[in-house]
Amino acid sequence: MKDAQPKSIYLKDYRKPDFLIETTELHFNLDPSATVVKSRLKIRRNPEAHTPSLPLTLHGQDLELISLHIDGKTLQPSEYEIGPETLTINTVPNEFVFEAEVKINPEGNTSLEGLYKSRTMYCTQCEAEGFRKITYYLDRPDVMSEFTTTIEASESEFPVLLSNGNLIDSGKRENGQHFATWHDPFKKPAYLFALVGGTLDFIEDTFTTKSGRNITLRIFVETKDLDKCDHAMLSLKKAMRWDEEVYGLEYDLDIFMIVAVDDFNMGAMENKGLNIFNTSCVLAKPETTTDAGFQRVEGVVAHEYFHNWSGNRVTCRDWFQLSLKEGFTVFRDSEFSADMNSRTVKRVEDVSLLRTLQFAEDGGPMAHPVRPPSFIEISNFYTLTVYEKGCEVVRMIHTLLGAENFRKGSDLYFSRHDGEAATIENFVKAMEDASGRDLTQFTRWYSQAGTPRINATDAYDEESGTYSLTLTQSCPTTPEAKQEEKQPFHIPVAMGLLGDAGNLPLKLQGQPIDADTEDNTNLVLELTDFEQTFVFEGLNEKPTPVLLRDFSAPVKLNYNYSREQLTAIMSRDSDGFSRWDACQKLAVAVIEDVMNAYRGDQKYDIDHAFIETCRAILIDQSLDKAMVALMLQLPTEAYLSEIATEIDVEAIHFARQYVRKALAESLSEELESVYRANSNPEPFSASATAMAKRSLKNTVLSYLIVTETDESLHLAQAQLDAATNMTDELAALSAIINSEHAGESLRDQVLQDFYLRWSDEALVVNQWLTAQAQVSRVGGLERVQQLMQHEAFDIKNPNKIRAVIGAFCGGNPVNFHREDGAGYEFLADQILTLNKLNPQIASRLLTPLTKWRKYDSGRQALMRAALERIMSEPELSKDVYEVVSKSLKD
Ligand code: TRP
Ligand code: ZN
Repeated sequence: MKDAQPKSIYLKDYRKPDFLIETTELHFNLDPSATVVKSRLKIRRNPEAHTPSLPLTLHGQDLELISLHIDGKTLQPSEYEIGPETLTINTVPNEFVFEAEVKINPEGNTSLEGLYKSRTMYCTQCEAEGFRKITYYLDRPDVMSEFTTTIEASESEFPVLLSNGNLIDSGKRENGQHFATWHDPFKKPAYLFALVGGTLDFIEDTFTTKSGRNITLRIFVETKDLDKCDHAMLSLKKAMRWDEEVYGLEYDLDIFMIVAVDDFNMGAMENKGLNIFNTSCVLAKPETTTDAGFQRVEGVVAHEYFHNWSGNRVTCRDWFQLSLKEGFTVFRDSEFSADMNSRTVKRVEDVSLLRTLQFAEDGGPMAHPVRPPSFIEISNFYTLTVYEKGCEVVRMIHTLLGAENFRKGSDLYFSRHDGEAATIENFVKAMEDASGRDLTQFTRWYSQAGTPRINATDAYDEESGTYSLTLTQSCPTTPEAKQEEKQPFHIPVAMGLLGDAGNLPLKLQGQPIDADTEDNTNLVLELTDFEQTFVFEGLNEKPTPVLLRDFSAPVKLNYNYSREQLTAIMSRDSDGFSRWDACQKLAVAVIEDVMNAYRGDQKYDIDHAFIETCRAILIDQSLDKAMVALMLQLPTEAYLSEIATEIDVEAIHFARQYVRKALAESLSEELESVYRANSNPEPFSASATAMAKRSLKNTVLSYLIVTETDESLHLAQAQLDAATNMTDELAALSAIINSEHAGESLRDQVLQDFYLRWSDEALVVNQWLTAQAQVSRVGGLERVQQLMQHEAFDIKNPNKIRAVIGAFCGGNPVNFHREDGAGYEFLADQILTLNKLNPQIASRLLTPLTKWRKYDSGRQALMRAALERIMSEPELSKDVYEVVSKSLKD
């Protein structure tokens, strides 16, 4: 909780630590409300410290001190000082043994940071600054220590006791207690510490590394979940092999463990040798998990595993460097997923997320560079910008250097900085040194916030056969810097030119044709100035430019395409991403036609060419079914809101629904036959082909249901009854509960049946909650308030909060943004409750309110009022304070 006004911490104030901790010995006596933690730390002054005679200041929060010793001698209260977040000892020798005994209360810890209880299990979450809630420590990532951890607890209640590294001792104690001692040979910062105690079962497998070492792999879960671990285990083994093959990186300990917990603030955590996962990111079986869920498990398991090198072996010097491990690791996991599944589908999904949510973050009050220059609460900076844009920045380095030099750069980075706490400069320098490329200008991607705009114009000269393409760049004002202050970015623009018969060979004026490149229809232009013109020669026809192939840079590119040109790219370009993107642009244009008519009270006319284009895509047998599904899914309301200058909630919703309905009615015959062709009763398979089929079938079902016919409703009901997997079951459930035609009693009936069938499976119940929270029919707020009274809801469980409150406020725009502001008041109430229980979750939930400036003046006033009401709460957490105060700042 805040003490006076929380202060900002600045990157420019970084100082090396005054003390280092050589070894860390911990002893836990687990008890629900009075766990005793004893620590024994070998501390010495840092020879590189700036100020050599300073007192020892350790971090500590919510700790009840029992005793302190230095070199075996008890400290008297006059010899130290305890602040709300620190312990200071004025005089200490240059080298000493520090011992502390403290008491903590895991059961009362609802913040889910530090040591807490999740259901019956003890577990920890220490990133970023949670270790200080366990004991007094130098809780900063550049202090790395060798940990030995002993855990003691009741043997019958907590038979499994885990920590990082290798088990070196275990046995019985008196009174039914037992203990386990773990030793981690790798030095690590405290944020990678983990402890688990509980009644857990596990599945086990082994992995043989490329150098022939055998690694034991274990996934620990509650017994009821043992049947949902196989997919995570398979994903783990694939990730281990992939990291050896693609990055040459091998696992280092003899055992790798994953533990699944129900109450968790984020997706998962890469603690050394002992990853802790949100159950939602590790458990999967076809009956309970959608295809998207399966892919998420694969991606997150890989992400956490990849952190063993990009994060653990080479960690971050300070939290400003967070993207050093997160951006790089997201890049690694997204390439892994692209290699395991469809590369184009993965790219489209990643870009959609980035363009919808990260671009919105970049345009709002919390906008920050990939490396933020300051923060009040670091937990607020685990953002889409640090993760997803950070990944795009690494991807651009990969594009500029090429795969081979990028690998040389990563080899150099890992060998140079193994065992160190590194910076983003270290990473970029290794890439430069290995490739010989100068990335000085490129590093602006790490320091300038905001989404750059590129404007493209062109001219074709028939006589000379030349085509000139002019690109200009700018970057809008963000909270820390005005547009005029921003320097040009170094932007790789992958591109091609499309002619009547396909892609045209590219020859830049004044540049020799590179005989080595087989593919002369794809080129990466490097935009480094505010304005540059590229001239192509040898062209017999006026080409259509295809720009930002594969989304080669996280920018907004504007070129004045005609609808015919977009249709041409969509049907003929060589790049799958660009084909999808052209289709989206076309759909946006068609939806905007209807929005304009809606606002101008005119007749709605749907571009018939667009309907015919969709028909052609739908019946094209040569296309990948997953791509057909993606192309037919209209841009979401969230994306349409992001690209709008002022968000017109009703017009967006109306227009999108109108276009959906028009498509559904015009294409009903084709939709029905595609539905039938893809809904055969084959046994379940998780293959890419089978998933693509389900994706297409369920996209088609979502169209058929808006025709509001008996037949389409029967189709959905039949699918719901016959489903053998959650993908089909949930799609059918959603179709019915979103259908006006179904009527209230049928909707209630299917919801009740579904709940009765799945009430024992928390993760399925969460999907059931989300499906209801997102129904756009009137009365959404009242339905959500009712859901919060349901036995399945629990305000202390982040997954439930996300499933109901998060899904409603972020995924049900027409109901959340009700004109009377009741949605905003509801969210403010929830935030004030969660501010006390779980500040990290409270702060994340605030996001929809932070975007208030993009709405009409009526909504602006109501959203502001809700923010101001939160601001007036006297005991705001740093987390909530930072987001609300930055949102209200003019
Ligand atoms: N390092 C984790 C990841 O990216 C993120 C994380 C997990 C986290 N739990 C957290 C961050 C709690 C802040 C607070 O995989
Ligand atoms: Zn991560």
